[in-house]
Amino acid sequence: MSRNLIASAFALACVATVSASSYTLDASDQYSGSKFFDGFVFKSEPDPTEGYVQYSTQADAASTKYGSKLIDTVNGASYMGVDHTNTYTEDQQGRPSVRIESKRFYNHGLFILDLAHMPASICGTWPAFWTYSRVNYPAQGEIDILENIHEKTASLNVLHTSPGFSVAGNNISKQQTNNQTTYSCDDNATSSPYGTQALKQGCTGTNSDPNSFGSTLNAAGGGVFAMEWTSDVIRVWNFDPKKVPSDVTAGKPEPSGWGLPSFTTAQGTGKIDDHFKDHRIVFDTSFCGLYAGQKGFWEETSCYKKDPVKFATCKSYVGANPEAYKDSYWLIKSLKVYQETGEAPSVPASSLSEASSRIPASSNVPASPNVSASIILSPSLASSTTGSSANVEPGATSISSSR
Ligand SMILES: *[C@@H]1O[C@H](CO)[C@@H](O)[C@H](O)[C@H]1NC(C)=O
Ligand SMILES: *[C@@H]1O[C@H](CO)[C@@H](O)[C@H](O)[C@H]1NC(C)=O
Ligand SMILES: *[C@@H]1O[C@H](CO)[C@@H](O)[C@H](O)[C@H]1NC(C)=O
Ligand SMILES: *[C@@H]1O[C@H](CO)[C@@H](O)[C@H](O)[C@H]1NC(C)=O
Repeated sequence: MSRNLIASAFALACVATVSASSYTLDASDQYSGSKFFDGFVFKSEPDPTEGYVQYSTQADAASTKYGSKLIDTVNGASYMGVDHTNTYTEDQQGRPSVRIESKRFYNHGLFILDLAHMPASICGTWPAFWTYSRVNYPAQGEIDILENIHEKTASLNVLHTSPGFSVAGNNISKQQTNNQTTYSCDDNATSSPYGTQALKQGCTGTNSDPNSFGSTLNAAGGGVFAMEWTSDVIRVWNFDPKKVPSDVTAGKPEPSGWGLPSFTTAQGTGKIDDHFKDHRIVFDTSFCGLYAGQKGFWEETSCYKKDPVKFATCKSYVGANPEAYKDSYWLIKSLKVYQETGEAPSVPASSLSEASSRIPASSNVPASPNVSASIILSPSLASSTTGSSANVEPGATSISSSR
């Protein structure tokens, strides 16, 4: 082959690659500005993860019932905070906050979140941005894009599935920047070819970017998170606000040019379309509960260490210290869900009900505290369990949760 022929074959291949991965944005899949909250349902029932939290209705959140508004639009960005005025006792339901779930269901897409601020790294908190299906949980999967607890400053990525889905991390080849700590995404798995894990842990990786969660992310001016979900792969990236790829800024995202993702399912096992289906997008800020409320994790916090008697439990601190939570807020510039050109668009909830015949009636009860509660291990578990958990498998005391 002549040099020219090779060159043009290469150029053709590039063109084909670029056009195959072109993403477009439908107006109904852009969440921003004064219309942001119109795209979400406020879930005001008890937290499925047993958090010390009262999730507010939209009307209450928009009022000053709790001293200041829990939701607002600030210079075009969407604010979601928590009650930072009132105190609560441990026997009460907990600190008022917000949990919203998208009205639309998604199958595939490129989800790009532009954050100005997220709940800071504060004792007692458990904020998250994630997607999932309640239907026969976890049969249709959960994708945790941004979450962690307490004073952490690096995000976790976690998938929860039914049996038959796993990731390879960097064990086959270097393909992600996360530190993968568990590999089977099956909530019932206790091992994978790469080691043991705890029941309900899912496949978990910790972001290697020290500014990927909470206070350090806020100090860096926010961040952009992207999650790509196709039939072939689920990948996550995050970008410093000063290093956002220009194609993202221009509204023509091309993940092929972004370099190594923090997380990928590439080279894992299982078919994505068999394990991930009809997801809603969720933002929430919970307190304590199945993950942050665990004794081992609470006792790692500076708030416990400063006064172990007064603040023996996560709830005691969260209830008594409203002023600590002023920075527990999301400030979202935009969330955009692009679809690959030619893919079916998202589906409004009205036309794809979770109450359809595919859903066993018993599992379609949003208020049931344990329908969707699943416990996963946190990567930091080893450090939190020393001494107190001899009867538990190494690592098995840091339970986090998918909601
Ligand atoms: C996990 O195991 C339990 C008990 O055998 C079973 O009821 C449940 O359906 C399993 N869950 C998954 C996700 O396979
Ligand atoms: C998998 O990769 C991790 C590092 O990411 C390494 O510690 C571990 O030994 C590897 N396991 C196998 C079985 O290759
Ligand atoms: C929830 O958990 C409680 C206590 O473990 C149990 O009694 C109840 O049956 C569970 N409910 C559902 C819907 O699984
Ligand atoms: C990855 O996480 C494990 C478990 O928390 C830890 O022991 C290990 O040091 C981490 N590796 C890196 C490269 O950070």
